[in-house]
Amino acid sequence: MTTSALDLMPGVEPTPLALLLLGRQSDPDSERGVDCPGELPAASDPTLVARAAAAKATLGDRLFVLGHHYQRDEVIAFADVTGDSFRLAQQAAARPEAEFIVFCGVHFMAEAADILTGSQQAVLLPDLAAGCSMADMASFEQVERCWEDLVAAGVAADTVPVSYMNSSAAIKGFTGRHGGTICTSSNARRALEWALTHGSPTRPRKILFLPDQHLGRNTAVRELGLALSDCVVYDPHKPGGGLTAQQLRDATVILWKGHCSVHGRFTVESVREVRERVPGVTVLVHPECRHEVVLAADLVGSTDYIIKTLDAAPAGSSWAIGTELNLVRRLAKAHPDKTIVYLDKTVCFCSTMNRIDLPHLVWTLESLVAGRVVHQITVEPDTARFAKAALDQMLALP
Ligand code: 13P
Ligand code: SF4
Repeated sequence: MTTSALDLMPGVEPTPLALLLLGRQSDPDSERGVDCPGELPAASDPTLVARAAAAKATLGDRLFVLGHHYQRDEVIAFADVTGDSFRLAQQAAARPEAEFIVFCGVHFMAEAADILTGSQQAVLLPDLAAGCSMADMASFEQVERCWEDLVAAGVAADTVPVSYMNSSAAIKGFTGRHGGTICTSSNARRALEWALTHGSPTRPRKILFLPDQHLGRNTAVRELGLALSDCVVYDPHKPGGGLTAQQLRDATVILWKGHCSVHGRFTVESVREVRERVPGVTVLVHPECRHEVVLAADLVGSTDYIIKTLDAAPAGSSWAIGTELNLVRRLAKAHPDKTIVYLDKTVCFCSTMNRIDLPHLVWTLESLVAGRVVHQITVEPDTARFAKAALDQMLALP
């Protein structure tokens, strides 16, 4: 083990965050780990592409590689299927014959794949540190405390949890246990509509939306026509979420105070600036962006919607896209007849998505060839049972 600056400072207790950044320990509040116990090939190894291809060919049909749209090009090149989190969950569930599912995405997606696949299948995440900062903003203990607050306010019985796919398996389990559903950015509207009329179409329910306040607010206000004042924000770091019992009773949507550290950085100023810089540009953003950014944009939609919109756009049109940079770059490359620019000059890649790179992929595939299943993601059976109920509800949304 190497000596860090923190080891050399007597009396200084390293914080869990510092240990996480140093890659030395798991953050107990995180849905992910940090260790990579294997011998990774060097990133500069010129044979990495050939090694990945050879290992993949050796594994043949025993292997199924899923690649999220935000992954690096070098990784996407080896994906059997690419997609947003919804499509990848569907694809994982539809491949019972694949012995090994290598998930090139982030931790919560691999957990969902494990929940949706059979016990004879192993789901592997090439780098355990590929988590999601948004998912980490709602821990199971915090959500349980929130539910106690709803019980105390007398609203829990009328509340349906709707949890974004970007949440830990424990939160998905909580959602299933309380009769709720999972959603992704492609079906958030249907999930909210279902939840509001769930059980009794004549008695609209209340929603606890976890953990992305922006997706929840944008969907409730833009797509369902609710007022901003119908939504309140529950802050897990404040007693009672920072809300009175009356505020909880009056709200239709209780939004968890979480956000995406990538999409949350786009601003109204970025929209204004790109309109000046690119004449005639259409601004298209992901619904994880802040509400004012979504209002300033021309179009709003999930990863899948963004891809389909650009596929259908006429040659010569100009677009500024507010979503993850790997995807925007790939779209720009795929559509040389259109001008496609990134919405902001300073917002960068999703750092955790980028943890999966060619060395980690090669290491994972070659380990499988050698008979070693590495970085397997397994969800504890009781959690998995309830999380599956919530995921199945999502897959069955009208
Ligand atoms: P999708 O649901 O569009 O795949 O997005 C996942 C994600 O992490 C967005 O930041
Ligand atoms: Fe999480 Fe945002 Fe990265 Fe998506 S882009 S995985 S929400 S941190």
